[in-house]
Amino acid sequence: MLLNKGSRYVVMGLLNTDSIAYAIGSLIERLGGKVIYTVQSERMKRIFFDRSPDLTEEEKAKMDIRFCDVTRPDEVMELFNGIGNLDGLVHSIAFANPKTCLGEDFHTNALDDIKQAFHISAVSLATVVQYAQPHMAHGGSVLALTFESRFAFPYYNWMGVNKAALEATVRALARRHGRDLVRVNAVSSGPVATKAAKSIPHFAFLGRTWRMTSPLPWDPTGEKDEVANAAAFLLGPLSRKITGQILHVDGGASIIGGQLLPHERNFLDEEEA
Ligand SMILES: NC(=O)c1ccc[n+]([C@@H]2O[C@H](COP(=O)([O-])OP(=O)(O)OC[C@H]3O[C@@H](n4cnc5c(N)ncnc54)[C@H](O)[C@@H]3O)[C@@H](O)[C@H]2O)c1
Repeated sequence: MLLNKGSRYVVMGLLNTDSIAYAIGSLIERLGGKVIYTVQSERMKRIFFDRSPDLTEEEKAKMDIRFCDVTRPDEVMELFNGIGNLDGLVHSIAFANPKTCLGEDFHTNALDDIKQAFHISAVSLATVVQYAQPHMAHGGSVLALTFESRFAFPYYNWMGVNKAALEATVRALARRHGRDLVRVNAVSSGPVATKAAKSIPHFAFLGRTWRMTSPLPWDPTGEKDEVANAAAFLLGPLSRKITGQILHVDGGASIIGGQLLPHERNFLDEEEA
């Protein structure tokens, strides 16, 4: 069984039904688990309900959505206070001011924006694990979402730096919480079309890069469910001895040197070429 029946997960980072958090949360529920979603603020909960025409009123009523700004330790503490026993946690959260931290030039004097991006996108994983771990009495699984940080992509700038920090935080937390039987891993996803992705300047460039480097076909508008499938594996009992790892769900782009040659590209791309 991919997930134990009735297992409970907190899934943080819901913005709309395009969010990776929503893809993971709805798969957990289809697999028999229970999900407590978090949005950044009470206002965003209202926005989520107002802007999700694809959900029925019944589906909306069934969702357990709470709010938590991960830069506020008081809100993180309040979220987990009395939450009951958990089997795991998904951290699907990142932010960097696109005007200063992303774009054509890596250099910026906006140090407060850099610090804010670091706090939200990397440090907050440690904050939420600190408060969530006592509720994983029988151990649990924590999952973060990252993007290939070994290479310097254009425009991604300080978010690339933050993803490297997030991955280092995954390893440090895996070391710290092995004694609690809490595992900590990340899925490194190829580009998928979400609100956060669309705020990356020239996001389409990343999609084109994947067409030239991914041995498997990669469709930025359609691969969220594949990211969720890998997430379910890492959250559930089948990955019991895996911790501190970064699992690439990227069509294989991360192992390719240079670009694929035309005869190596997948069928769909050959048709497009
Ligand atoms: N979309 C991609 O191409 C892609 C690829 C690899 C990794 N990721 C990662 O996946 C994760 C989810 O992003 P997404 O693409 O689903 O976009 P998204 O915009 O749907 O989700 C990002 C979430 O972060 C939340 N957030 C920002 N600041 C916060 C704060 N202070 N407190 C609480 N929440 C806050 C936003 O409200 C939003 O819900 C991020 O870590 C992102 O970097 C995305």
